[in-house]
Order: sequence, then structure tokens, then C-alpha cells
Amino acid sequence: MRLTILGGGGFRVPLVYGALLGDHGEGRITRVTLYDVDRGRLGAVARVLAEQAAGVPGAPEVVATTDLDEALLGADFVFSAIRVGGLEGRAADERIALAEGVLGQETVGAGGIAYGLRTVPVAVRIAERVAALAPDAWVINFTNPAGLVTEAMSRVLGDRVIGICDSPVGLGRRVARVLGADPDQVWIDYVGLNHLGWLRGLRVAGRDELPRLLADPAALGSFEEGRLFGPEWLASLGAIPNEYLHYYYFNRETVQAYRSAERTRGAFLRDQQAGFYAGLAGPESTGSALDAWHRTLSEREATYMAANRTAAGVGERDSADLEPGGYEKVALDLMRAVARDERATLILNVRNGTTLRVLDADAVIEVPCLVDANGAHPMTVGQLPGHAVGLVTAVKAVEREVLEAASGASRASAVKAFALHPLVDSVTVARRLLDGYTAAHPGLGYLRRS
Ligand code: G6P
Ligand code: MN
Repeated sequence: MRLTILGGGGFRVPLVYGALLGDHGEGRITRVTLYDVDRGRLGAVARVLAEQAAGVPGAPEVVATTDLDEALLGADFVFSAIRVGGLEGRAADERIALAEGVLGQETVGAGGIAYGLRTVPVAVRIAERVAALAPDAWVINFTNPAGLVTEAMSRVLGDRVIGICDSPVGLGRRVARVLGADPDQVWIDYVGLNHLGWLRGLRVAGRDELPRLLADPAALGSFEEGRLFGPEWLASLGAIPNEYLHYYYFNRETVQAYRSAERTRGAFLRDQQAGFYAGLAGPESTGSALDAWHRTLSEREATYMAANRTAAGVGERDSADLEPGGYEKVALDLMRAVARDERATLILNVRNGTTLRVLDADAVIEVPCLVDANGAHPMTVGQLPGHAVGLVTAVKAVEREVLEAASGASRASAVKAFALHPLVDSVTVARRLLDGYTAAHPGLGYLRRS
């Protein structure tokens, strides 16, 4: 099987390659094609992968290219993990929103809309090339904002594109652990949009154990989401929200923490990653690329959502949450289930169909799916309560305005996307946001014209 990774020079590629190295089963990936627009980054990541593969029998062959069509030809699976505008773009997304007093974050609120506006046109072009050159390939979309980008690509590729995110897996693992259950043996009742979902139940041998947790403040306060949201709020909700809902339920505090942080997350990663790639550039660079990557990864993981933890007044992440095994495990499990028709249940981003009655069939949602050789099929879950319906339908309407803005080059739709977002409090602010973003991002030039 052949896997093509778009964004092949990306920092998380070695996680995926590491997972492939541990897969010795039939139908495994034997060739990995890295595609990226940046040759230097491709070279750096190729060095890390070569060290990972050293001494591993049957390690997948790795080739690198900056030609998209060449990368796609012959692919069985395509991972898309691109970052349009780079980390400099992410830092600008955050900065411009925070200057207006609203949340600047990669996937949530104004920052997520700006990132979506410049990513969707690129993702759609990629989907069109996949449809032309590798129509039977499965596309696994990691590119954020993952739900929105998956929906954009699904308009071209239908159910051949599946979006993934590791945050529901991490949440399910933490809740299972605190309940003393094996994370691999539980059924997780989770649904929503990407980065906007709720865990409403966790069944062990058919019995829902979540009520036991919700009634135990000490247990609730002992894991990441419990610390972020506080046991009382979780008990009131009767569900455990995805960690990204911290930006909604504690918006004022998170915006404040982001504004007073020395550097935003994007600015921190821009500098950190620039150091990593510069350290591996050129023939004079010596030393282990893999060690450098591990060091950089540990620092990245340890500081994930640090400003949210500051806002909540809680300490460092649990060591168990720093272990790898989320992101790359979902990807590998999904590929295996499809390639070998090995049934698996995974929380994925797919078209709604008839799952959530408040959304239309084409809306991409995040939901447990049964995966087999025919793809990912959403499972039946209970409907959302009113407060969650409010957020999900409002944010889906925002995503639809982003898609409309991208497909019709419509400035009015872009303003609507910002203005209708629950975390943007004024149409005037929405207009200024769009002006700020179009001035900063060359990738939004298409909106400057209309
Ligand atoms: C989580 C999210 C991803 C995000 C990742 C890295 O896993 O679900 O969508 O890409 O964190 O976040 P970072 O801030 O380190 O880029
Ligand atoms: Mn995610």
C-alpha cells in the first residue's frame, strides 16, 4: 500500500512514520511519499525518518517531492496535514483577533475563521487533484480547522475523505482511566463538531459509568477536563466537554490569558519550529535529527494549551497525557480498518447523514463511526441537548459562510462568518477583523478583490 503525506515536511510526520514502523501486518504501508512546498523542511523530516527506520526490517520506503501530481499518482491513502500560511500565519491569526479583544486561536473563533478562509481554497484544489489522479484513494484529513476543511473536501470527494482529530480520543482515554476502565474496551458516546463536542456517556460492558464520575467531585477534578472546567460545571452540564469548549465556557478568562501571555501559541511554535528546522538545515548540521525532534516534541506537548491552564489556575499536564499514541494511532487504526476490512469503532469527522436531526445530511460532524473496507459509517447516537444544539448549529452556520466566501470569493459571506460566530460580539468588529486579516495574509487576496 502506498501512502502520500501532504505537508510531508511537517513536524508530526515522524509520529505517523513511527506508527507505520510498528505495523507488520498484511496490507501495510510499504511506501511513503512526502509532498511539501518547502524542500528544506522535506529534507529535515526525511533525516528524522531515516534515523527512525535504521535497523527496522521492512521499514516503508520514503520518497520526497515538491510536485503535487507526482505525489498523488498511485496513492492508496492520502494524508493531508498542511498549514497554509505557515506558523507565521497562525501567529497573525491570533494577534489580529486578540487586538480586537476576541479569541485568536487556530481553530476556534475569529482565528479559526481566518485560517479556514485561507485553507479551504487550497484544500479544495487538492481534493480536485485527488479526484483526477487518485480517484480510489482514501483521503485522511488532519488539516485544521479539521471539520470545516473535511466538509470542503467532501464536496469534491464525498465520503472518500475522512477527518481526524486526537482530542476526542484523549478525552475518552482520560475518562476511561479515571473510571478504572480499559480505554480500548469502552464505548464512548461522543458527538458534536470538531473541537466542539461532548462526551455524554462511557459504557463498560453495556453499562454507563459516567454518572458515577459526575457524582464524584474528587474524581472529576483529577484529570485535564475536570481541572479546566471545574467539577461543578461538569456536573451541571451532565457531560464532559471537549477541551476546546474551554474557549466558549470561559471565553473572557481565556482571551485575557492569551492577551497577557508573553507569546501566543502560534508565535511560540513559530519560533520553536524555526529553531528545529534551522538546526537540521545544510550539510554542516551534525548530531541526531531524531534526538532533536524528540526534544522539540516534548517541549511542544508540555506547553499545549498552557494559557488555558493558566486561565483555569491549574498546573501542568499529566505525564500520561504527554505520551504519544493519539494522533498517529487514530490514523493507523483508520487505515488498517479500511485496507484490511478490520472493523473498528473510531471517532471521526464524516458527513452527518441522519445522525443529528438539527443538521443537514452533508454537514460534517464528529461522531463514533464503524469503519470497514467501505469507509466510515456514523453510528447512532442520542441527540444533543438544547444548549449544545445552539452552539453546534451556530458554528456550522459560520462554517457554511466560510465555504460560501471561499467558493464565491464573497467578502460579504466572510464578514458574516466572523459576525455570526458566538465568540465575536459585534458586526463592526467582524468587519475590522476581515480588514486586518486580508491586509496580513496573501492567501486571502481573493477576498480583497470582491
Ligand atoms: C490537538 C488538537 C489538534 C492540534 C494539536 C496540536 O491534538 O486536536 O487539532 O493540531 O493539538 O496543537 P499545537 O498547539 O501543539 O499545534
Ligand atoms: Mn484537533
